Amino acid sequence: MAQYSLAKKTESSDIVVDPAFRDDILAGFTAMPKTTPARWFYDQRGSELFEDITRLPEYYPTRIETQLLETHCAQVGQIIGKGRAVVEFGAGSAAKTPHLLRQIDPAAYVPIDISGDFLRESSAVLARDFPGLPVRPVEADFLCPVQLPKELANIPRLGFFPGSTIGNFDAPAAVDLLRSLHWSLGEGAMLLIGIDRIKDASVLVPAYDDTAGVTAQFNLNLLARINRELDGTIPLDAFRHLAVWNDDRARIEMHLEAVRDVTFAIDSNRYSMRAGETIHTENSYKYGLRDARLLLRAGGWNPVNEWTDAGDMFSLFLAEAQPEKLAV
Ligand code: AVI
Repeated sequence: MAQYSLAKKTESSDIVVDPAFRDDILAGFTAMPKTTPARWFYDQRGSELFEDITRLPEYYPTRIETQLLETHCAQVGQIIGKGRAVVEFGAGSAAKTPHLLRQIDPAAYVPIDISGDFLRESSAVLARDFPGLPVRPVEADFLCPVQLPKELANIPRLGFFPGSTIGNFDAPAAVDLLRSLHWSLGEGAMLLIGIDRIKDASVLVPAYDDTAGVTAQFNLNLLARINRELDGTIPLDAFRHLAVWNDDRARIEMHLEAVRDVTFAIDSNRYSMRAGETIHTENSYKYGLRDARLLLRAGGWNPVNEWTDAGDMFSLFLAEAQPEKLAV
């Protein structure tokens, strides 16, 4: 997963806060109910905690998607043919990428991530493991259309968007994002995307509320980040992590619930919360196969093939870019 929202440190080691972080948090804490965009989880500590989450026994998505990639990438390679540039959105540690690169004989690898440091590290590892493969990292926010390196202009592309990150967006935002990926990749592109499936709450809830408490730390770290970067005074011990399955909306919701009445400040603004009130910090949408295909089509991608594990836990979709419609 991308570290896509790091605060930067200047040489004098003052923290330079992303103005969008301040705007989102102040607006989100003023709203009723309070809500914050999930992208702000991923400061340095949040990104480390997310890596820990991916190794938890309860967090099945990473394990199952990796197995699907190991098993089916050879077939992906047969369908898409040789010589595509693989463009990975939110590459982060690029842990799953080698399974794909090994099987498809790519012309180049273009990892996109907002965190330049992280990107350079993982690119160096991949370049070492795949000698001869041009690796061209692009430091950018993949939520916006991205200009790819000019030297790859005439090479067909395969977008790679694993991890069911698409699930952290509601349907309109997910459609916008898929359309933006289409724009970045261009005509004739294909997309390999991982999408988490609807399943029993008895499996879903523990995946987001593990016994070791790592997901709770990940959720609470947002408050620590607010305190550090926005002069906050939020007492962390006044909140507990909650994960609930919202069956009507087919999503896991993460919240931070006040365990007592609490008053605090953020950036000189004062807030009060009653015991039981929550801050809604993340949605993770899950999909049936038909819903997933519909989402892809709405986002400008025609599904060509799909692979699912025996337990129907997680699916990989291969899709092709819908041709541009010309006005008549
Ligand atoms: C990054 N994203 C796909 C994860 C998910 O499963 O929605 C984020 C996460 N939140 C808690 N655990 C994992």
